[in-house]
Amino acid sequence: MKILVTGGAGFIGSAVIRYIIGHTQDSVVNVDKLTYAGNLESLASVAADPRYVFERADICDAPAMAQIFKQHQPDIVMHLAAESHVDRSIDGPADFIETNVVGTLVLLEAARQYVEESGKKNFRFHHISTDEVYGDLEGDTDLFTEETSYAPSSPYSASKASSDHLVRAWGRTYGLPCVITNCSNNYGPYHFPEKLIPHMILNALSGKALPVYGDGKQIRDWLYVEDHAEALYKVATKGKIGETYNIGGHNEKQNIEVVHTLCDLLEELAADKKPEGVSAYKDLITFVKDRPGHDRRYAIDASKIENKLGWTPKETFETGLRKTVQWYLDNEKWWSRVLSGDYKLERIGEGQKDLKEQKYGS
Ligand code: NAD
Ligand code: TYD
Repeated sequence: MKILVTGGAGFIGSAVIRYIIGHTQDSVVNVDKLTYAGNLESLASVAADPRYVFERADICDAPAMAQIFKQHQPDIVMHLAAESHVDRSIDGPADFIETNVVGTLVLLEAARQYVEESGKKNFRFHHISTDEVYGDLEGDTDLFTEETSYAPSSPYSASKASSDHLVRAWGRTYGLPCVITNCSNNYGPYHFPEKLIPHMILNALSGKALPVYGDGKQIRDWLYVEDHAEALYKVATKGKIGETYNIGGHNEKQNIEVVHTLCDLLEELAADKKPEGVSAYKDLITFVKDRPGHDRRYAIDASKIENKLGWTPKETFETGLRKTVQWYLDNEKWWSRVLSGDYKLERIGEGQKDLKEQKYGS
């Protein structure tokens, strides 16, 4: 099969591509615009494989999408391209509406036209979404199911909710064969260091404050990214058309617990890397102003994908977090080039000179 993956240079998309090339006989067309979040260095292990092709393109560019469908004739689309960081969506929501809503519309239309014109049989469009579309949970025990009503809180989650609605409408109105997944917070290797876990690891290693928003008691349900990639491949290839599957890791943790566990792991695995003047990594924890509209708790009921498709996560939070910390300790080359902005250098010469100026964090 040929699988067109959008956003394949991002955190989860690159894990999906490494999974497909490493564990299946399928081929991949990676369609990515390479925003600040796209990093081809995350795909170094598969870049030379004859089953892998990269197409640099914007999903909002309708002629480019039509051309890519026509040229590559995919059997499956796995749509991950998105603006994905809640804090950025609060500072600048317009890009989120453009890529997540308009970009999804453009891709759906390109897929619809392609299926109509090519007569492709057994085509599938898999839309990858988030549990954040459900808003936050009040109590300590409720779980998001596939029937939970949508109640997004942030510009990011509102844009993802909109895209989910578009996908369902294209399925029902035009008969486009679609499946949707809504997943909890991912963590693991190649995670861009603006997100909680890599941000804390890298700040700790350079002796910077570990900024915990508000009281740090917000709860997220953490899933190791390679477990997510495996679940996504299962849904893309075996999921029932028209259905939604929630994906989660059974790992509900308060943010402050996550940060404490990271500090403990760093004490164990990186005692020799402690910056001068820091006696314990925990001393760097600093409570800062809360995120506006901050959702309190997310938690997933993943029983449907477990029962119907036989997927369960392999990693516990303890094993996955240990692997993740060790990966960052072993892969300084990858993250130091992200922090310096040098990971964008390969794009210079492609009309993207401005990108190097937009450094991480600016
Ligand atoms: P990411 O920000 O790491 O990667 C996004 C990728 O999309 C980047 O490679 C970027 O260059 C590309 N992209 C952005 N705009 C584009 C455009 N207009 N055209 C083409 N490519 C574009 O995101 P991620 O964390 O890997 O998330 C991937 C998907 O999974 C997103 O749809 C996100 O909503 C969803 N998701 C993420 C999480 C999580 O914890 N990270 C959890 C559940 C669902
Ligand atoms: P994040 O990784 O941004 O994912 P999301 O907002 O999609 O859940 O944040 C995870 C949680 O960690 C969220 O409750 C916000 C919190 N957080 C901090 O406390 N400090 C930080 O520096 C960051 C980036 C996040």
